[in-house]
Amino acid sequence: MSPLIWYLIAYLVGGIPFGYLIAKYFAGINIKEQGSGNIGATNVLRVLKQTDPAKAKKLAAITLLLDALKGALVILAAKAFGVCEATQWAIAVIAVIGHCFSPYLKLEGGKGVATTAGVLLVLVPKAVLVAIVVWFIMAKTVRISSLSSLTAIVVGILSTYVLYPDLSIQSHAPLLIIGFIVLYKHKENIYRLLTGQEKRVI
Ligand code: G3P
Repeated sequence: MSPLIWYLIAYLVGGIPFGYLIAKYFAGINIKEQGSGNIGATNVLRVLKQTDPAKAKKLAAITLLLDALKGALVILAAKAFGVCEATQWAIAVIAVIGHCFSPYLKLEGGKGVATTAGVLLVLVPKAVLVAIVVWFIMAKTVRISSLSSLTAIVVGILSTYVLYPDLSIQSHAPLLIIGFIVLYKHKENIYRLLTGQEKRVI
C-alpha cells in the first residue's frame, strides 16, 4: 500500500475528536466552548465534574484511552502491514497532526499529549513509561495538568535519545516535530504558566 494511503488513514483516524464526541453525546456539552476549550481528557474532566464528578472521571478516562489508542492503532496496523520504520515515524507525526488539526473540527483540535503517548508507546515504549512516571510525579506535586503534560512530553522525548541509542536517524526529526507541535498547541497554557495564571487544580 502506498505511504500516502497510510498518511491519509493516520490523519483521518488521528483526527477523530473523541473528547468532543464524548462530551457532546454523553453529557450534551460542547467541550470546545467550555473550560479551556480543549477537546482533551483534562478539559472533559474539568467541565463535566461541575455537574457529575463520577461521570466526569469515567468519561475523561475514556477520552484519554481512546485518544491514545487511535495513535497506537495506526502504528500497530502499519507495523502489521510491514510498513518501513521511516514511514511509521511519518505516520506517527501525521496522527498527532490529525488530532491537533482535526479534519472533523475545521482544523481545530486537541493538544496532542494522549495521541503522542499512543504512537510513541508502540515505537519507543520505554520512553513513554518514563513520561508517564514524570507526569504522575508532576500531577501529584504541582497539580497543574498542562505543566505535567509539557514536562512529561519534553522528558519523554529527550529520554528517547538516551534509552534508544541505536534508534535510526529517521526517527529524530519526527520526534522533534511531534514535540514542537505539542508545545505549539500549549502556547496559551505556556503563557498562563509564565504569567502565573494557569489554574493549579484541574
Ligand atoms: O493534555 C492537555 C493539557 O496539557 C492541557 O489541557 O485543558 O488544561 O488546556 P487544558
